[in-house]
Amino acid sequence: MAENRFHLAWFCNFTADSWTGPWGGDGNFWDGRFYLDLAEDLERACFDYLLLEDKLMVSSVYGGTMRSDLKHGVAPKHDPLPLATLIAHQTSRLGIVATMSSSFYPPWMLARVAATIDHLSAGRFGWNMVTSAEDTAAQNFGLDKLYEHDLRYDMADEYVDLVRRLWNSWEPDAVVKDRLTGVYADHAKVHRVDFAGTFYRSRGPLNTLRPPQGHPVLCQAGASPKGREFAAKYADTIIAIGNNVRQMKEFRSTIHGLLRKLGRRPEDCKVLFLVTPVVDETEDAARHKVERWVSDPDYIEYVLTELSSITEVDFSQFDLDAPLPAVSTNGERGTLERFAQAGSGKPLRDLIKLSLVETVELIGTPDTVADRMGRIMKEVGGDGFLITSPRLQMNRHYIAEITDGLVPALQRRGLVRTEYSHAMFRDNLLAF
Ligand SMILES: Cc1cc2nc3c(=O)[nH]c(=O)nc-3n(C[C@H](O)[C@H](O)[C@H](O)COP(=O)(O)O)c2cc1C
Repeated sequence: MAENRFHLAWFCNFTADSWTGPWGGDGNFWDGRFYLDLAEDLERACFDYLLLEDKLMVSSVYGGTMRSDLKHGVAPKHDPLPLATLIAHQTSRLGIVATMSSSFYPPWMLARVAATIDHLSAGRFGWNMVTSAEDTAAQNFGLDKLYEHDLRYDMADEYVDLVRRLWNSWEPDAVVKDRLTGVYADHAKVHRVDFAGTFYRSRGPLNTLRPPQGHPVLCQAGASPKGREFAAKYADTIIAIGNNVRQMKEFRSTIHGLLRKLGRRPEDCKVLFLVTPVVDETEDAARHKVERWVSDPDYIEYVLTELSSITEVDFSQFDLDAPLPAVSTNGERGTLERFAQAGSGKPLRDLIKLSLVETVELIGTPDTVADRMGRIMKEVGGDGFLITSPRLQMNRHYIAEITDGLVPALQRRGLVRTEYSHAMFRDNLLAF
C-alpha cells in the first residue's frame, strides 16, 4: 500500500439539512434512517469515522429572535448519543464520534455513557470534546453566562483528566467471571478515584466496565492557542480548519510541536482538515452547481444565522456588500477568525460564498478533485480530511457523489484505504 495514504472522516449534525432542494427525499431526517444509510455508505467507503456535531440551544442571536434559526432549520437537532448506538448496531468497522460538552455534562455521566457506547460498538466510540460557545446554552443549564473562553479550557483540562481516571478505575482484567469461585469482578481491581480538583470532585469508581478501547477515541477541534494546547494534550484526532495549504501545514506543525513538548508522538494524533468537495461529471457542471447554491438567498441567510448562533455575533446587522468590521467573541473564536478573514477587506457576501467550500477549493470531477486532495496532503504532510457537505446539500445525492465517486477515485490512486485492517476504531486510526 502507498505510503502517502491518508484518513477520511465525515462531519454532520443530526438535523434536517437538505429538506428544500431536489434531493431532500421526503424531508424526514428525524427517525435516524437517513443517518444509518449514511453510516453504511461511509463504512463501505472505509471512512475512519463519522463525527456527529451537537449544540444545546435554540439561538436568537441573528436579528434578536428565533425566527431565522427555526425558519431555516438551523436549530432543531436530535441528541447524537442515541443515534450513535443505532449506528453501532448497523455497522461493524466505522468509528462513531459523538459531541458532548464538558461545560454541561457531569464528568461521571459522560465517562459512563461513553464507556457504555464503546461496549455497544465493540470498541468504536469516540468523544468530540467541546466546551460549548453560547450563553444561550449556558442559560439552559441554570447559568446566566457561559464561562470565559480560556477558563472553559482550564475546566475541560481537569474534566478530561477526571474522565480518564474514571475509565481507568477498572483494571483491564477486573472482570473475572469465574464460575468455580462465583466471582464476577475482582474488587481488588476496581478502584475509587477520589478526585478533588479545582472545578470537579468525584469519588468513583465507575459502575460500568472498562471500555473495550481502554479509553474511547478523543477528538477535539480547538483552534485558539488555548484550544490547541488542550487538543494536543489529550486528542487522538484533531479536526481543524485551514483556509489554505500553508495554514494547514502550519497548524499541523504547531500541533506536532505541542505533542512533542507534552511527551507524545506526532504519529499518535491524526490531524484531519475540514473540506467540502463538490464533484460532478464535468468541471463546469461542478462549478455551475456551486454558483447556483451560493447565490440562493436562503443559503446566505442560513450561513449568517448559523454563524451568529455559534459566535454570538449578530450578523444581521452588517451590510452584505461592505467589508466586515472587526468583530470578537467569547464563543467559537477560531471559527469566527477563519470566516472573517480579518484585514482581507472582502465584502460579507464574498465571505459567505467562500465559506461554502470551507477552506481549500475542491471543485471538479472525482478524478481532478482526488488528484488535488493527494497533492494537498503531500504538501501538508498528512493525516487526512474531514468531509462535510455544503450547507443545505446534505442528502443521499451528495453522499453518493462522495462515497461512490470521489472515494473510489482516491482508492484507485492508493491514497485511502480499501479495507479496514482492525476491528477497533483507534487501531484503524493509528494504522498509518
Ligand atoms: C470541524 C469542527 C467541528 C466542531 N464541532 C463542534 C460541536 O459539535 N459542538 C460545539 O459546541 N463546538 C464544535 N466545534 C467548535 C470547537 O469545539 C471550537 O470551539 C472551535 O473550533 C473554536 O476553537 P476555540 O474554542 O479554541 O476558539 C467544532 C469545530 C470544528 C472546526
